[in-house]
Amino acid sequence: MILVTGGAGFIGSNFVLDWFREHDEGIVNVDKLTYAGNLTTLKSLSHDTRHVFVRADIGDAAAMASVLAQYKPRAVVHFAAESHVDRSIHGPAEFVQTNVVGTFTLLEAVRAYWNGLDEEARLAFRFLHVSTDEVFGSLEAADAPFSETTAYAPNSPYSASKAGSDHLVRAYHHTYGLPVLTTNCSNNYGPHHFPEKLIPLMIQHAIEGKPLPIYGDGRNVRDWLYVTDHCSAIRTVLSAGRVGETYNVGGWNEMANVDVVGLLCDLLDELKPKAGGSYRDQIKFVPDRPGHDRRYAIDARKIERELGWRPAETFETGLRKTVQWYLANQDWVQGVTTGEYRTWVETNYSQRH
Ligand code: NAD
Ligand code: TYD
Repeated sequence: MILVTGGAGFIGSNFVLDWFREHDEGIVNVDKLTYAGNLTTLKSLSHDTRHVFVRADIGDAAAMASVLAQYKPRAVVHFAAESHVDRSIHGPAEFVQTNVVGTFTLLEAVRAYWNGLDEEARLAFRFLHVSTDEVFGSLEAADAPFSETTAYAPNSPYSASKAGSDHLVRAYHHTYGLPVLTTNCSNNYGPHHFPEKLIPLMIQHAIEGKPLPIYGDGRNVRDWLYVTDHCSAIRTVLSAGRVGETYNVGGWNEMANVDVVGLLCDLLDELKPKAGGSYRDQIKFVPDRPGHDRRYAIDARKIERELGWRPAETFETGLRKTVQWYLANQDWVQGVTTGEYRTWVETNYSQRH
């Protein structure tokens, strides 16, 4: 089987659900279940013996050693992280704890486990670290997209802590020979995306009749990729990636935030028309995020050239599926937007108005 960390979060849960559509190989899914981890997302697997869920913190060395000893995975796919930039601005400590110290603790446990494997299993073993394009910092409009050789220049506590974890993973390969792979992906969107992030937050605010809070001038650019395309890239790198290499993953789909929100409003106007106007009327420009990166863009030619991976969805098809999923799954949204979520929205947005 394989071990997945953070498999109750947005991308991890999509990865787990997709995996079982294509494989019968089991998954042991280790997740702390923070505010961002939700087992309801995985309820279709509750009687599926291929899936074992273990609630544990990746920063708990004994728990990691015990899971590895018990389930003997042939690979680890490491998603678990604190992932929201705005939260990292309000409270960076948890980001350092999970993303840096947690990844270090997990790597130590994996190194000990891997050292105990026989020669054949050691050679076949993989540790795939799921990272982000945000480690490369911010691009100007005329700059070339991030490639695998772009220097790291993280600007937020989130991206700095992810950069720290990437460096540790790299060092464990160079120093100890651990067979690692790293993916640096652009912004994802799709089903089960926690509604603190731009796309699900805007869909939810729109249908609840609330303002759509666009930071700054709305011209910050992100390179959007539908989540199942990220999952297929991870499966591709896991099975065919060259050990020690990093792969940038992106959708060749740069778009300014204001245009993303405009498209969402147009889709909602079509799929859930509201009386007396367009959802665009709810758009509200609010004070910017401190240190807000201007532009991210991924050059995904290496993974395409070496491994033949390409995204299956366009932004148009992916965004339509996403809006339809949120409209059809309001019970999921209500289930994850607990009191903690309401406190967060108050913390992040009250001072912006
Ligand atoms: P998420 O916040 O939705 O989910 C994170 C999951 O990790 C949750 O289930 C949470 O409970 C779990 N977790 C957090 N701390 C933990 C700990 N200490 N021990 C065990 N589990 C813990 O995040 P996501 O958007 O699914 O991102 C997953 C990974 O992909 C992250 O490493 C992130 O940096 C990376 N990534 C995300 C994006 C994106 O657009 N969301 C893009 C590129 C890379
Ligand atoms: P986000 O989804 O938080 O992802 P990231 O910061 O990791 O790229 O934000 C995506 C973009 O949307 C980013 O430029 C910030 C902007 N944004 C808003 O304008 N308003 C919002 O309420 C949020 C959450 C994000």
